[in-house]
Amino acid sequence: MTVGKPLPHDSARLHVTGQARYLDDIPCPADTLHLAFGLSTEAAGDISALDLEPVRQSPGVIAVFTAADLPHANDASPAPTPEPVLADGAVHYAGQPIFLVAATSHRAARVAARKARITYAPKDPILTIDQALAAGSRFENGPITWARGDVAAALAQATYLAEGEIDIGGQEHFYLEGQAALALPGEEGVTIQCSTQHPSEIQHKVAHALGLALHDVRVEMRRMGGGFGGKESQGNHLAIACAVAARATGRPCKMRYDRDDDMVITGKRHDFRIRYRIGADAAGKLLGAEVTQWARCGWSPDLSLPVCDRAMLHADSAYFLPALRVESHRLRTNTQSATAFRGFGGPQGMLGMERAIDHLAHVMGCDPADLRRRNFYAPAGSKPVQTTHYGQAVDDFLLDEMVDQLHKTADFAARKAQIAQWNSQNRTLKRGIALSPVKFGISFTLTHLNQAGALVQIYTDGSVALNHGGTEMGQGLHRKMVQVASAVLGTRAEQVRITATDTAKVPNTSATAASSGADLNGMAVKEACETLRARLTRFIAAREGCPPEEVRFAAGEVQAKDKRWTFAEVAEAAYLARISLSATGFYATPNISWDRLAGQGRPFLYFAYGAAVTEVVIDTLTGENRILRADILHDAGTSLNPALDIGQIEGAYVQGAGWLTTEELVWDDKGHLTTHAPSTYKIPACSDRPRLFNVALYDAPNREETIFRSKAVGEPPFMLGISAFLALGNACAACGPHWPNLQAPATPEAVLAAVHRARGTDEGRA
Ligand code: MTE
Ligand code: MOS
Repeated sequence: MTVGKPLPHDSARLHVTGQARYLDDIPCPADTLHLAFGLSTEAAGDISALDLEPVRQSPGVIAVFTAADLPHANDASPAPTPEPVLADGAVHYAGQPIFLVAATSHRAARVAARKARITYAPKDPILTIDQALAAGSRFENGPITWARGDVAAALAQATYLAEGEIDIGGQEHFYLEGQAALALPGEEGVTIQCSTQHPSEIQHKVAHALGLALHDVRVEMRRMGGGFGGKESQGNHLAIACAVAARATGRPCKMRYDRDDDMVITGKRHDFRIRYRIGADAAGKLLGAEVTQWARCGWSPDLSLPVCDRAMLHADSAYFLPALRVESHRLRTNTQSATAFRGFGGPQGMLGMERAIDHLAHVMGCDPADLRRRNFYAPAGSKPVQTTHYGQAVDDFLLDEMVDQLHKTADFAARKAQIAQWNSQNRTLKRGIALSPVKFGISFTLTHLNQAGALVQIYTDGSVALNHGGTEMGQGLHRKMVQVASAVLGTRAEQVRITATDTAKVPNTSATAASSGADLNGMAVKEACETLRARLTRFIAAREGCPPEEVRFAAGEVQAKDKRWTFAEVAEAAYLARISLSATGFYATPNISWDRLAGQGRPFLYFAYGAAVTEVVIDTLTGENRILRADILHDAGTSLNPALDIGQIEGAYVQGAGWLTTEELVWDDKGHLTTHAPSTYKIPACSDRPRLFNVALYDAPNREETIFRSKAVGEPPFMLGISAFLALGNACAACGPHWPNLQAPATPEAVLAAVHRARGTDEGRA
C-alpha cells in the first residue's frame, strides 16, 4: 500500500533541477501585455488630482486604467465588505494600487507606473494600535468577547497572580515565488493562470469584475512557489487586473509583482498586542485568566475577522482554565490589509497564553515546564471530559504522553541543570531552554468551507488522471493525494498523475488553507476511487462468476479466482464492456458546528498536537542570539507520508522561530514600510536553523475518521517555534532577578532591552 510511505515530493526532481514550472515560466503568446500598478505614496488621504498623461506617453504603454475604467465590480475582497482593486478617490495605505498600466514589457510597465503626477489631500494616518484605539478606528462595532466562568471571582481567590502585556510583530510571507497571474482572453470568457491557494475565489472575483457568469471564467493553477496564507486572497488583485486588461485589449495579459512591490502592496501576518491577567492557587493550578487581544488589521477587512476569531479560539493554548475571558479588538489602520498566514491567528493567541504562563512561573519561582504540565487538559479517556472556553470537548488530548516522551528524548532535566550551571559561571553568554506545547484546532471555522471534491479518470492504458480541489504550494498535497488514489485503486503510485488544479474540473472549491487540504480532498479522492473500484469489481466478478469480495486490487494488478491481470488490461476490458471509467468524489466534514456570535460549539473536528524543546544562547553585550538545539515530537496521526510530514514540521518550526526572532517589519511615521526587501527584512537562512534538530512523529491514529486516520500537518508545527522565543526569554531571565518582559520579535535590540530589565539596569533605556 502506497499510503504511509516516505515517498519524495512528486516534483522533487523538477524542483531541484529548475524544471518545475511556475507562473513566470509559462511561455506567453507573442502579443502578451505586461501590467504594473501605480501605487499610492500616501498612507491616508484623498486624491485631488490624477494626471496620467506622462504614463500614457511612456514608451511601450498600450493602455492605462483607473477605477473609473473598470467595467463592473471594483472589488478584490474575500470578505462581504468590498475592497477596491484600484483606489476610488481615497487612499488608505502607502502602496495601495491607484491605477493600472498595460505595456509591451514588464519593465516598460513598471517604468511608466512611476511617471504619474498625483496630488493628494493627505490626512494623518492611523498606523499603530495606540493610534487606532485613540481614534476608535476598528472593524465591527466594538470588541468581541467569549467567556466561560467568573474570571474576576477566580482571580480574587488566586494565591499567585501575573499581569502583563506583550507586543507581537507581524510577518511577511516571503514566498519565494511572488504574486503572479496571466489572463488569456477567449471567445466567451477568459482563462486565468494564477499563483493562488484559492482558484474558485479568483474565478468569482474575475467573473464579477468582467460581468461574466462563473462558467465563463476558468482558473488553472499547477503549483505555487509557496503561499503560506499569503495567496489565499492577495492574488485577487493581479488576476482581476489581468482579466480586465485582457478583455479591454483582446490580448493576453500578465502581471507579476517585483519583490519590493509585493512586500509593499500585499498583506502580512497581523501584529497583536495581548494583555493578560492570570492566577493560580497555592498548588499551582490555574484558576482563571483574562486575555485582551488587539489586532492591527490594516485598511480593509480581508480575512481579519476569522483570523481574530482563531486567535480567540487558541487563547487557552493547551491549558484547562476553569474561568477564561477573551476580548478581541479588530483595529483598522492605514497599513497593508493584514491577511492569512500559517496558523491564521492561532500563533498569536497561543503565544499570549504561553507568555502569561511563563510570567506566572516567574512570579511563583517555579519551572515553567512544570506549571505547563500541571495545567494541561485532562488526557484522552479521562472522565469527565474537559471543555474549552468555547464549549468544545477536548477528548483527544495527547500532550501528557507526548511531553513525557519528549522530556526523555530531549534529555530535558539534565540539560536544564547543565544550563543553570553554565549560567552561574558565565556572565556574557547566557543560555536558555523552554518547552512549549501545541494544540491546534483543525477545520475551517466557517463551517460551509469544510467540503471538497475530486475527479478521477482511468484511461484504457491503466494510467489514472487525478484532479481535486486542493492546490500545491510545496507542502506535498499532490503526492499525498496520489498515495490515497493508488492505495484505493491498487495501482502503483507512478500510474497516477495529478494535473493542474482547475475550476473547470472540480467546481466550487475552498481555499487550500486551514491545514485541511489533505483531510478534505483526500476523502473526496478516496470516494471517487472507491466508486471506480466498485465498478471494476462488479465487472470482473460478473465476468469471472465469482463473488465481488474475491476481486482484489494491489500493486498494479487485479486478481480474481486464480487469475491475474494488469490494471491496464482490466481498464481496457472495462472500456470495451462500456463501463464508465470516470468518477467524482465529494466530502463534507461531519460533526462540526459553530455559533460565532455566542462563541460556542464544536468548530473543530479534532486537535493536532505537538511539543518542542528549544535551547538558545544570547550574548548579553549585543543581544545577538542563536538557536542551539531543537527537539520536536509532533502528532500527524497515522502519517500519510512521514518524509513530507517531517519536512513540514522542520520548515514550520524554522518559519515560526523566524517570526519571533529575526523577522521585523518596520513602518516609518508616514506609514511607509521600510523593510520591503531581503536587505532589510531577515528571514531565517539555512545557517539559522538549529544546529541540532531532532524531529520525530508521534505515531498514533487519529481518533476521528479522517483520511487513513492521519492528521493535518501544514500549520500546527509553526507554533512549535514559540519554544525558541520562550527559551530566549528564559535566557534573559537568567541575567537578573526581575521579569525580563521580552517583546516579539526577539531581535538583538529586544533581547538587550530584556537583559537590562532582568538586571534592573533598564533606567533611561528604550
Ligand atoms: N508548506 C510549503 N512548503 N509551502 C506553503 O506555502 N503553506 C502552509 C502549509 N505548509 C505552505 C506549507 C499553510 S499556511 C497551510 S494552510 C497548509 O500548508 C496548506 O496545505 P495543506 O492543507 O495541504 O496542509
Ligand atoms: Mo494557511 S494560513 O490556512 O493558508
